Amino acid sequence: AVVRVTGRDGVERRLDATNGCALMEALRDANTGIDGTCGGMMSCGTCHVYVDADWLAKLPPKSEDEQMMLDAIGELVELEPGSRLSCQIQVSEALEGLSIRIAPPV
Ligand code: FES
Repeated sequence: AVVRVTGRDGVERRLDATNGCALMEALRDANTGIDGTCGGMMSCGTCHVYVDADWLAKLPPKSEDEQMMLDAIGELVELEPGSRLSCQIQVSEALEGLSIRIAPPV
């Protein structure tokens, strides 16, 4: 699915992310500043993104573990209602046009 990604520089780009992959992987491989250091184990928080309000309800809800990791990085960076770990978002056709912003580094 093609997703719209606003970088830390405020510039929006379109990214063709492979369906079935974690969004984190697509963001990492496209050098958007997402590191995904833990590889999707919900233990690093370096995959934090802000999901546009319009899209938030279309994503599966956060697990307890995802929320715990977000709470932990919330000590370091600003959380927003759209804060999600991109390693927990699986790319699919249903996410065509998904709009996100890359959060500040942790
Ligand atoms: Fe580490 Fe998502 S990649 S928490």
